[in-house]
Amino acid sequence: MTRSVNYDSVADQFDKRYERSDYGPISRLLLEFAKGPRSGPVLEVGCGTGHWLAEIAGLKLPCFGLDPSRNMLETAARKQTGATIIQSVAEALPLADDSSARLFCINSFHHFQDKERFVAEAARVIRPGGTILILGLDPHNGLDEWWIYDYFPQVIEIDKARYPPTKDIRDMLERHGFTACRTEVALHMPIRIEARSALENGQLDEGATSQTAVLTDGEYHKGMQRLVIDIKAAEARGQTLVIGADLRVYATIATRAEDLRDNEPALVCIARFFHGGRLTGPHYSTSDMPRI
Ligand SMILES: C[S@@+](CC[C@H](N)C(=O)[O-])C[C@H]1O[C@@H](n2cnc3c(N)ncnc32)[C@H](O)[C@@H]1O
Repeated sequence: MTRSVNYDSVADQFDKRYERSDYGPISRLLLEFAKGPRSGPVLEVGCGTGHWLAEIAGLKLPCFGLDPSRNMLETAARKQTGATIIQSVAEALPLADDSSARLFCINSFHHFQDKERFVAEAARVIRPGGTILILGLDPHNGLDEWWIYDYFPQVIEIDKARYPPTKDIRDMLERHGFTACRTEVALHMPIRIEARSALENGQLDEGATSQTAVLTDGEYHKGMQRLVIDIKAAEARGQTLVIGADLRVYATIATRAEDLRDNEPALVCIARFFHGGRLTGPHYSTSDMPRI
């Protein structure tokens, strides 16, 4: 079992990441992906606070955002993106077969406890010819540097256990009938920040990244103590400690084969979901569920 993050407890600070860093290349890639050929209903799995649903709202496509974290979804619902918000998990998508033209996961796939089961579910709900986008880090290729990996040496192994290599993602997609699987660098983030100001403005808080959020309090405080020692040592020399990262975020894209199986009658599972910021639930009959 890989370590997991309690997103209910970090929901209120989650969107700060979008104020601090430029995610423009991911926005552009997502917009191209969402409106691509034969567009139609779009589903984000692990939508969190709905940042990416807001980015594609202007396309006026039917959109659905799914996530297990109620607090993340409360924030998503407040954004009024027009998307239908569903509280559920990737491994049991409460959506009809062949119901989505596009399905995407941005920085969420590594959190899914059973990735193979999710990909099987994605193959079920994506219609023939529809596409999937899975976006995340690949800590296996040894290209990335990150101050977090320096100060919390256990994190690289935790990340390797959570994030499959992109090749494994492509293989998994192929096993479930996806074709034209390819991976590209969606975002290259060289980052340099002054450690003291980052510490004081909350940028290094335990909940600021999932890498620190998965640590025990003891592990986090031990690494932070080492960082504070380095900050003070630099200041004693009249210098400013600068910490940084050189990260690549990879997009793996694939198409669901046209002739995988017969179209079965739509079957929708029971789930809890929001409409326009109001939690309506907990249970819906199949006829009440969105048939996208
Ligand atoms: C790093 S956040 C990304 C949120 C959003 N995609 C973004 O990029 O802003 C990861 C999200 O994955 C969700 N998550 C964790 N386990 C999940 C699962 N089994 N199924 C679906 N989503 C899950 C978390 O609740 C969290 O909101």
